[in-house]
Amino acid sequence: MATAGKVIKCKAAVAWEPNKPLVIEDVEVAPPQANEVRIKIVATSVCHTDLYQLFECKNKDGFPIILGHEAAGIVESVGPGVTEFQPGDKVIPLCISNCRECRFCKSPKTNQCDRGWASLGYDIMAGPDSRFTCKGKKVLQVMGNGTFSQYTVVDQAAVAKIDPSAPLDKVCLIGCGICTGYGAAVNTAKVEPGSTCAVFGLGAVGLAAVMGCKAAGAKKIFAVDINPEKFEKAKVFGATDFVNPKDYDKPISQVLAEMTNGGVDYSLECIGNVEVMRSALESCVKGWGVSVLVGWTDLHDFAARPIQLIAGRTWKGSDLGGYKVKDGVPELVKAYLDKKLKVDEFITHNMTLDQVNDAIELMKHGKCIRTVLSVSPQ
Ligand SMILES: NC(=O)c1ccc[n+]([C@@H]2O[C@H](COP(=O)([O-])OP(=O)(O)OC[C@H]3O[C@@H](n4cnc5c(N)ncnc54)[C@H](O)[C@@H]3O)[C@@H](O)[C@H]2O)c1
Ligand SMILES: [Zn+2]
Ligand SMILES: [Zn+2]
Repeated sequence: MATAGKVIKCKAAVAWEPNKPLVIEDVEVAPPQANEVRIKIVATSVCHTDLYQLFECKNKDGFPIILGHEAAGIVESVGPGVTEFQPGDKVIPLCISNCRECRFCKSPKTNQCDRGWASLGYDIMAGPDSRFTCKGKKVLQVMGNGTFSQYTVVDQAAVAKIDPSAPLDKVCLIGCGICTGYGAAVNTAKVEPGSTCAVFGLGAVGLAAVMGCKAAGAKKIFAVDINPEKFEKAKVFGATDFVNPKDYDKPISQVLAEMTNGGVDYSLECIGNVEVMRSALESCVKGWGVSVLVGWTDLHDFAARPIQLIAGRTWKGSDLGGYKVKDGVPELVKAYLDKKLKVDEFITHNMTLDQVNDAIELMKHGKCIRTVLSVSPQ
């Protein structure tokens, strides 16, 4: 590899400040250090968590930053101590690690890992360290990734090797949105056959949750969104009933309770809104209802009446669908290749990295499910 061990100069979209368009810049990407992998990003998509960093969290200490964490690429070079990857491997970088060695990785109960950015930087959505510089300044990597760049460097614990036949411009979506929603239904909620579910928010995460509920055998799946344009897509993934809270003058939990003889068995909040998290909990049936927080926010506390839980409901959260990513992500890629998992249906737009601001605007205005940006030629 002609570039191994050298700094790579390439194009990346830099978020210099909150609330401002990203700027395509020439950046320097340092070689991978011990236990790191440098990846040529072939395709990346935009997930709402990138918008959270840019428009909602807006913590100035989290800038400048390279956003993007739903991607697929090819290993360019590896740092000392890396044996699992070789140049040329097809990989998906991930925003949670799976070191296989820590207390959490050793437990079958969780996919949380002690390694990586998360324990260091929920406030700024990035760790303090970065391999990017631009105009002499350090540029952070969102959630240890930073895939709105032709090259990035990621800790090997947060990289999954995938089937070499996988089309990278499709399976990039499995790196965040699809594994998150699908896993939240099958792994975290543990939806049962014959059950009734409600999914709040029909972006890629919510639609993947609908797909997970259907795969788990749910009999009725209520798709809830304030944007009725999303309902048609929800049908494609298996939703059976469609509810727009704006069509009712009573709480949506009451509407759902009336439609389901007391509430759904499972509800999943896929928006990142603490009010809706409460509604989703209250939409569950007493006795055994399970509600899962999937939407991301660290800005507000949530609230609920204790009686909701005392009466037998369970409130849980799910990070990347509960998958231990090194195994779970390649398995989902395989399921897609075996035509057991829908992926193409999430892609509503294809663009190039220099159109990243258009892709962000589409999501901000609810006009897309996922936009895939082609970044580097394969
Ligand atoms: N937990 C995780 O591991 C994880 C991973 C990825 C994304 N996320 C989070 O999941 C959420 C969804 O991500 P996405 O990429 O699908 O986003 P998106 O913006 O594409 O979709 C959000 C949907 O919610 C709908 N919505 C907004 N407010 C609503 C309301 N009050 N009631 C009903 N519907 C409403 C919107 O119309 C939209 O269809 C975000 O919060 C994102 O940060 C979490
Ligand atoms: Zn994401
Ligand atoms: Zn670990």
